[in-house]
Amino acid sequence: MLDKMKIWKSTKEPDTLDDRIRECLNYKIPNHIAIIMDGNGRWANKRAMPRIAGHHEGMKTVRPITRLCNRLGVKVLTLYAFSTENWIRPKLEVEYLMKLPEEFLGTFLPELIEENVQVQMMGDRSQIPAHTLSAVEKAVQETAHNDGLILNFALNYGSRSEIITAVKSLADEVEKGNLSANEINDTIFSSHLMTGHLEDPDLLIRTSGEIRLSNFMLWQLAYAEFWFTDVLWPDFSDAHLIEAIEAYQKRSRRFGGLQSEET
Ligand code: IPE
Ligand code: IPE
Ligand code: MG
Repeated sequence: MLDKMKIWKSTKEPDTLDDRIRECLNYKIPNHIAIIMDGNGRWANKRAMPRIAGHHEGMKTVRPITRLCNRLGVKVLTLYAFSTENWIRPKLEVEYLMKLPEEFLGTFLPELIEENVQVQMMGDRSQIPAHTLSAVEKAVQETAHNDGLILNFALNYGSRSEIITAVKSLADEVEKGNLSANEINDTIFSSHLMTGHLEDPDLLIRTSGEIRLSNFMLWQLAYAEFWFTDVLWPDFSDAHLIEAIEAYQKRSRRFGGLQSEET
């Protein structure tokens, strides 16, 4: 289906960030934004600081970006916080990363509740330390009735393992006779993923200059628009998010069809 996205028609360059935000709101805002928050370590290295200082600074970026997404009416913001591959990092770094959700939610949860944000988490819960998981589950529970922005943390998330889990559960359904192999289609497959209840991302942002997916939402990003920036995650600001959305609004999403003027 063709996206009814308006073409960017602005004649004057809006100057202040607030003007740009208002201008953005005249066009299609992505429903689901997914971000690979990368570059914390390099941010710290550049300042001769330990990598964990970069993670701490990166955590601080989440707050304004969440706020702005909420203000723009984005429905889902998925943040890649820890991958299934990140366990191979030094023990102290992993331990620190597993403390960050507590620290972040410890200070930010009341504001999330007040702003009607709903916290969710996707990833393999079985390996996550109990203290981390209980902080996340508390936030999930306390915001479950909110119906504003969904703030979805990908924590111990890996797309291949998510896909394998989905395949296993489908195979199980087939074995039990609840489903025939022939019936399996896009919709049924999607519903077995951790994002089964969410729309696919419209816009993927990756910071730090790396141009790869690093095992993130391989299925769900099939038709997302990609936006890469050299900016390191701790330096990522509201202006950068607006820049990404402006770029998104100028794209022509065809989903395999033709541009609407050509039909
Ligand atoms: C992203 O920053 C955060 C996580 C992967 C947890 P990095 O820690 O990957 O930072 P760089 O890529 O080493 O700079
Ligand atoms: C991806 O970043 C994972 C997160 C941002 C949580 P990495 O820094 O782990 O990815 P690679 O190793 O550069 O591919
Ligand atoms: Mg990295």
